[in-house]
Amino acid sequence: MELELEDLGSNPTDNRPFEDIAGAYISRRGLLGGSLAVAAATFFTGTGVAGAKGKSSGTPGRGPATAEPLIGFDAIPLDDTDQIKVAAGYTATPFLPWGTPILPGAGAGRFPANAAEQAKRIGLGHDGMWFFPTTRSGDRGILCLNLEFGTNDHIANGTAMTPGTPAFVELSQAAHGVAVVEIERTTSGWQVVMGSKNRRITATTPVVEFTGPAAGHPLLRTAAGDAPGGTLNNCANGYTPWGTYLTCEENFNGYFGATGAWTATEEQARYGFSAGGFGYGWHVHDPRFDLSNPAHVNRENQGGWVMEIDPQRPSAAPVKRTALGRFKHENAEVVEGRGKRVVVYMGDDERFDYIYKFVSDSNWKSMRARGMSPLDHGTLYAARFADDGTGTWLPLTVDDPALAARFADQGELVTFARIAGDVVGATPMDRPEWATAGPNGDIFFALTNNSRRTEADAANPRSPNPDGHIIRIEDGDHVGTTFTWDIFLIAGDGASSGDGSTIDAEDAFGSPDGLYADPDGRLFIQTDGSQPNGTNDQMLVADTRTGELRRMFTGIPDGEVTGVARTPDRKTMFINVQHPGNGDPGVSSFPDYDGATPRDSVVVITKDDGGVIGT
Ligand code: FEO
Ligand code: CA
Ligand code: CA
Repeated sequence: MELELEDLGSNPTDNRPFEDIAGAYISRRGLLGGSLAVAAATFFTGTGVAGAKGKSSGTPGRGPATAEPLIGFDAIPLDDTDQIKVAAGYTATPFLPWGTPILPGAGAGRFPANAAEQAKRIGLGHDGMWFFPTTRSGDRGILCLNLEFGTNDHIANGTAMTPGTPAFVELSQAAHGVAVVEIERTTSGWQVVMGSKNRRITATTPVVEFTGPAAGHPLLRTAAGDAPGGTLNNCANGYTPWGTYLTCEENFNGYFGATGAWTATEEQARYGFSAGGFGYGWHVHDPRFDLSNPAHVNRENQGGWVMEIDPQRPSAAPVKRTALGRFKHENAEVVEGRGKRVVVYMGDDERFDYIYKFVSDSNWKSMRARGMSPLDHGTLYAARFADDGTGTWLPLTVDDPALAARFADQGELVTFARIAGDVVGATPMDRPEWATAGPNGDIFFALTNNSRRTEADAANPRSPNPDGHIIRIEDGDHVGTTFTWDIFLIAGDGASSGDGSTIDAEDAFGSPDGLYADPDGRLFIQTDGSQPNGTNDQMLVADTRTGELRRMFTGIPDGEVTGVARTPDRKTMFINVQHPGNGDPGVSSFPDYDGATPRDSVVVITKDDGGVIGT
C-alpha cells in the first residue's frame, strides 16, 4: 500500500544507536491445528530453517559464486503499458479478481451489489497470501489471501454505490479482510472450488479472540463491551509449521477518525491516529471507529496485530497473537531456530520504525503438545544495528527496569510495542516491509524508502532514501541476541547514475516491498512505489549468492506487485497486482479490458516447460 498518508512517520524519538554502540504437529482439540502432515512437509521445504550454515562469500560484488546460475530466464525491460508482462518461456494469467464469488449467494454481477454480496466474494487489495496444499500433488489446496484495502473511489467506480453512506461503509468493510478459498488446477487452469473451507473474514466479522499478554487487558476493552471482530488492512503474511496462516494488520490507524472533540493521547499519536483518518470515513457511520466516542475508547487497540487463521477449520475464531506486539505489521516470516523454537521476523512499515523478532520459549512441538501456542509464550525483541556490521536484539519485557518504568505490565507493553522500541533504543529504519528467510537462514528485509531521512547511518545508508534498499541479517541459530548484517543491495536507477544505488542500470527498480526467498536461494523482489521513468511496478529475481538480478514481471500502471505463494513443487507461483490504475478506469481496465473499472487480481505464473519458477 503506497499512500501518501500511510507512512508519515510518527516516531518522535531521537534514537541514535550508532553513537551508543560506538562507545561500546501434535494436534490438540481446541487448538489451531491445520493439517500437520502436509503442512510440515511443505514448511520445511519452503522456508529457511536453521542449521545449514556455511554460506559462500555471498555479498554482491565481493566474491564470485562457484555454483551453477540460479536464474534461467532472460530479463524483460521496464514497461508502462496496461498489460502484465512476464519473461519469455513463462505465462502469467489473472485469477481471483475482485468480485470473484467464493461462497454461495454471492450474486451474479461482476461487482458486488452490496455488502452482503461482497462478504461472499474476493475483496480488494490483494496482498500477502499462502497456499496450503490438501493433496500430495499440490494440484488442490486452500489459498489464504489478504485483502488489504480499496479506496472509496475504486469501490465506487466498480459498484456505482455512493461513498459517505452507511451502506457504502458496510460495503467497504466487507471488501477488506481475508479470503480463504479452495482452488484446484484443472485442464483449463486454476479454478475456485466452492468447498467447505471457503470463508471470508471482513473488517468487522467474525468475532476474533486475543491471546498472549494483552488478552483481556483493559486497554483492549471498550465501555460498550464490543465483541472484537474482524481484521483490518491485512498487508502481508506468514505461515507456521503447524499449518496455519498469519495475517498482518498494517495501516489500521487510517480507518479511525473523530466526529467530535478529540485529542490524541501520546500512544495514539505514536500510532498515527488523526481526526480525519485516511479518508475512508468509516467513523462517521460506524461509532466503533470514532475516536471521540467514549463508548468505544480502546477499540483502536484491537488493531495492529498478527492474526492466526486455521485454513482447515472454517468455523474457528481467528486469533490475534498479542505476544508478537502491536504495530503496523508488514509480514511475519516464521523460521525454526535452535531447539525447535519458532522465531518470527517482522517489520513495522513506517518511516523511522523498527525491525522486530519474536522467539518462542521452547520447542514448538512440545508447547503445542502441552496445549500452548508457541506464539503466545516467548520474547519480543527490537533490532539495533551497529555501524560495524553487528547488531543486537533488544528484549521488550517489563523485566527491563527502563520498560517497567514506562509500562504497568507486559500487556500494556506489547500494545504499545513501538514505544517500548523507543525506550530501549532500537534503530529507526527506512520503512521495514517484508522479511524472508533464505535457505541458509539469512534473513532479508526490504526497506522500501524514506524521503524524510536527513541523516544516513550504516544500516540506512542513503539520505534521503527515495528508492529503498534490502538488508541481510545473519542471525545464527535465530534464538540469540546478537547478529551480523550487511546491505544486500541499494535500489535506484543503477550505480552508474550516481544515485547511490548498487545495482546495474538494466535492473533499475525502486521501493522494494514483497520478498520471497525460495529454497534454492532465489530472492523474488516485488516493488510498490516509484519506478524508473514512471514505469510500472515489477518483480525481479536475485541470486542471493552472487547478487545477480533479472527482471521477471512487470505490472499495471499505478498498481503495485505484491504477495507470493507457490505450490510445493514451485511450478506454480501466485503473485498479485494490487490497485491497478488506482481503481481509475481511465488509467487501466486490467484484467477485463472492456473499459470497466480495473480489478485487483492474483496472477498465476507458470513456466511453459513445466519447470520451477525462476529457473
Ligand atoms: Fe501494505 Fe507496507 O505495505
Ligand atoms: Ca509498500
Ligand atoms: Ca507491502
